[in-house]
Amino acid sequence: MTQPILVTGGAGYIGSHTCVALIESGHTPLVLDNLCNSSSESLERVRRISGVRPGFVEGDVRDAALLDRVLAEQRPQAVIHFAGLKAVGESVQQPLEYYDNNVGGTVTLLQAMQRAGLRNLIFSSSATVYGDPASVPIREDFPRSATNPYGRSKLMIEDVLGDLYRADPAWRIARLRYFNPVGAHPSGLIGEDPRGVPNNLLPYITQVAVGRLSRLRIFGGDWPTPDGTGVRDFIHVMDLAEGHVAALRHLLAHEGMFTVNLGTGQGCSVLQMVQAFERCCGRGLPYEIVQRRAGDIAECWADPAQAQRLLNWKAVRDLDTICADAWRWQQANPAGYA
Ligand code: NAD
Ligand code: WQD
Repeated sequence: MTQPILVTGGAGYIGSHTCVALIESGHTPLVLDNLCNSSSESLERVRRISGVRPGFVEGDVRDAALLDRVLAEQRPQAVIHFAGLKAVGESVQQPLEYYDNNVGGTVTLLQAMQRAGLRNLIFSSSATVYGDPASVPIREDFPRSATNPYGRSKLMIEDVLGDLYRADPAWRIARLRYFNPVGAHPSGLIGEDPRGVPNNLLPYITQVAVGRLSRLRIFGGDWPTPDGTGVRDFIHVMDLAEGHVAALRHLLAHEGMFTVNLGTGQGCSVLQMVQAFERCCGRGLPYEIVQRRAGDIAECWADPAQAQRLLNWKAVRDLDTICADAWRWQQANPAGYA
C-alpha cells in the first residue's frame, strides 16, 4: 500500500487544490480538517475532478491523541500543513485564537510527528513575513517582520521549524512562502469560498460580478505605484498546488530544510486585475477608490528564482487564466459550496 500524504487543512482553498495535484502526480492525500473555515463538499468535488476521494478525518491539529492515532494507523510519508487561521483583521481582534491555532496547533503536530518518528514536513508560510519590503522583487534572504498577529504567528512557526531542524537535522522541512493565491481549478468545481464578506481582492471582485456585492472598494489610489493602486504577485492556485508537489518531490529526495517563495515574479496592480476581470466577464465592474486600508503596503512581488532552481518549478498560468477560472467557479457556485 502506498503511504499517504497527511494534508492538514486539506478541505480548505489551497488544500483542496493541492489534493487534486497530489492525486494527479500519483500520491494519496489523507485530509485532516476541523472544517472551521471549509466544507467537506470540497473533497467530494476533488473526487469528481480526479476520480479519487481523499481519505478524511474530521478533527483538530491541536488534538494530540487524535494525531497519535492517525499517524500510527495511517503511517503517512510526509505532512503538508495548511491548517490554520488566516484573516489578518480578525487576528488583530482575537490574537490568542491565532497563536493557539497557528502556533499551538503546529507545535502539537510537530510533537506528534516526533513521537511517530515522522520527520517530513511542508509548511504554509506567507509573503506576509516580509512585512513592508525595502525593495521588490523579494528574495528569501530579505529581512522578516510582522505587523499583525497573523503574520507574527507565521514568523514564530518559521522560527520553531528552524530551531527544530537545528536540534535534529533528521527533519526535512520546507517553508513555502506564498504570495497572493487566486483563481480556481479549471473545472469550476473547487475554488475559494470565503465565509462572510471577502477580505481579499479577487473573491470580492467575483462576488461583485455575480451580483452578491454591489461594488468594489479599491483601497487607495495614491500609492507610489504606476497607476496609484497596490501591486501584488497574484499566483494561480493550481500553480501553487503544483509547487507543493514539486516541494514534496524535493523533500523526499534530499535531506535538509529549505525556504522558498511561491510567486510568479510579476507585479499586477489592483486596477490591472479589475480590468483583466472585466475583459474576462465581458462587462464593467462598479468600483470606487476609497482610503487606503490600514496595514496595507504599496507593492509586493516575489523573486521566484530560488523555487525554479531548487524545485524546478515555476508558475505558468497567466492573469487571463486566473480570471477565467475564478469566474467559472463563481458562476457555477454563486453561493460557494453551500
Ligand atoms: P483556508 O481557510 O481555506 O484553509 C485552511 C483550512 O484549515 C480550513 O479548511 C480550516 O477548516 C482548517 N483548519 C483551521 N484550523 C484548523 C485546526 N486547528 N485543525 C484542523 N483544521 C483546521 O485557507 P487557505 O487559503 O487554503 O490557506 C491555507 C494555508 O495557507 C494557511 O495556513 C494560510 O495561512 C496559508 N496562506 C494562505 C494565503 C492565502 O492568501 N490564501 C497566503 C499565504 C499563506
Ligand atoms: C490585495 C490588494 C488591497 C480588497 C493578504 C494577506 C497576506 C496573504 C494574502 C495570507 C491590496 C486591495 C483588496 C478589496 C482592494 N495571506 N484590495 N479592495 O493584503 O496583499 O494579502 O492575503 O498569508 O498575508 O495580508 O491581499 O487580496 O487582501 O489585497 O482594493 O476589497 O487589493 O488593498 O492592495 P493582501 P488582498
